[in-house]
Amino acid sequence: MLVTMKSILKLAEARKIAVGAFNITSLEGIQAVLGAAEETGQPVILQFAPVHESIIPITVIGPIMVLMAENAAVPVAVHLDHGDDFNKLKQALDMGFTSVMYDGSALPFEENAAGTKIAVELAAAYGASVEGEIGAMGREEFLSVGEEEENEAEESCYTDPDQAETFVSITGIDALACSFGTVHGLYLKKPSLDLDRISRIRKKVALPIVMHGGSGISDEDFRQCINRGVRKINYYTYLAKAGGMYVKEKAAKAEDMVFYHDVTLWGVEAMKNDVLHTIKVFSGLKQ
Ligand code: 13P
Repeated sequence: MLVTMKSILKLAEARKIAVGAFNITSLEGIQAVLGAAEETGQPVILQFAPVHESIIPITVIGPIMVLMAENAAVPVAVHLDHGDDFNKLKQALDMGFTSVMYDGSALPFEENAAGTKIAVELAAAYGASVEGEIGAMGREEFLSVGEEEENEAEESCYTDPDQAETFVSITGIDALACSFGTVHGLYLKKPSLDLDRISRIRKKVALPIVMHGGSGISDEDFRQCINRGVRKINYYTYLAKAGGMYVKEKAAKAEDMVFYHDVTLWGVEAMKNDVLHTIKVFSGLKQ
């Protein structure tokens, strides 16, 4: 059933778990994520990031996300990830998305707070939830393999707990994306997380904390972050990699012709397995 992100994060807070927020770039991605959520009986968030418009436009995949969320056997929120202009937020809300992120993290503090407050007012007219961001994740999604870029988030961009407190009181958001060492895309070095920062932010802010850049984080680090108050975890690159690499392997081994529908079925199978593992870690279930 389609629900707001706020209601899903309330469930997560009560159970001290995190809900997976998976970026969607295909119908197979939705099937994989909802299949895994229904098999484990866990709530989930389907999200779309405008950076993926060139893979599939929101006008095509957005209504399908909403429809499939409505028909799911578990609570599902449909969320706009990294919305950086109000037209995109309105477009998603008009389609029936139940949550939006206003990402003003690249702007000066006052402009970010003012923009996020407008997003909260806009979403309220639709009964939808809002995620804001303070601090920055270090780099845009998504790093392509082989690119020689440092993968450490700049410490100067890490979320300041006092600033986070002010930001939340000005804006009235429902969830706060924070920077504490994760980055989007593939990690080229083992990520080193500032776990204590999550605890310090949570002392100042009584809101669910959102982790971006979930791909490549160890299961143990996920558990540590969840123990300290992370309630929504954004995850995409490893899901896409799991599907792609499995298709590559199966196609290479195929003795016969490969049909396109074989590719879609392999993709769903591999992505669902990856999401199953991830959801179990996030919700403290046995593997
Ligand atoms: P990854 O692709 O690194 O998992 O990050 C996804 C994300 O944070 C989307 O906002």
